[in-house]
Amino acid sequence: MKFFIDTANLDEIRSAAELGMLDGVTTNPSLIAKIVKDPSNFTRRDFFDHIAAICDLVDGPVSAEVTSLDAASMIKEGEELAAIHDNVTIKCPLTIDGLKAIRHLSEAGRATNATLVFSPSQAILAAKAGASFVSPFVGRLDDISAEGMALVEDIVDIYDNYGYMTEVIVASVRHPQHVVEAARIGADIATIPYSVIRQLAVHPLTESGLKKFMEDAAVMKK
Ligand code: G3P
Repeated sequence: MKFFIDTANLDEIRSAAELGMLDGVTTNPSLIAKIVKDPSNFTRRDFFDHIAAICDLVDGPVSAEVTSLDAASMIKEGEELAAIHDNVTIKCPLTIDGLKAIRHLSEAGRATNATLVFSPSQAILAAKAGASFVSPFVGRLDDISAEGMALVEDIVDIYDNYGYMTEVIVASVRHPQHVVEAARIGADIATIPYSVIRQLAVHPLTESGLKKFMEDAAVMKK
């Protein structure tokens, strides 16, 4: 399973890349808003420069999201985003207009990511539109007492039935178990917040075991 990081924070991306297992990055307008210090001075040029800076750090797909709602504007924005770097993936919301934009952009050879996906029917449409990636939001489904990972299971089954090439990105990951379940189900990718990437390595028995090993090793230093 590929690991993407779900952040626009350059320090987090740099640290995750240092682990040597970072395959890509996903951003969205909310993640971009988090890194903006002075919103009144943040221009579209600054946004493009930030996406370019992310592309310099990671050799893999970098999702940048459109912020318009009609298909024609999404396509125009998508082309502008794609011009930033070859690795930019254009993220469009799973709406009727988003699907039209995905179809158009994918036919033009652009990489696309259908985002805000909450049902198998939406995922089928994403694949039929030719999306390179589909992003089911598991955490947000869990938040409303639905089962986020059940959606991933459905999508992986359906895509397998027809050999759809669209890769499944498990998104809105909130904890390590989401990542483990994504791998168990056979999702192509998990896009993971930096804090959760770090949590994946942690186990209390590793910590207590290491503490004891260090204490016992200390005799050899005397
Ligand atoms: O990749 C989608 C993600 O950024 C949404 O996560 O935690 O806001 O639901 P969250």
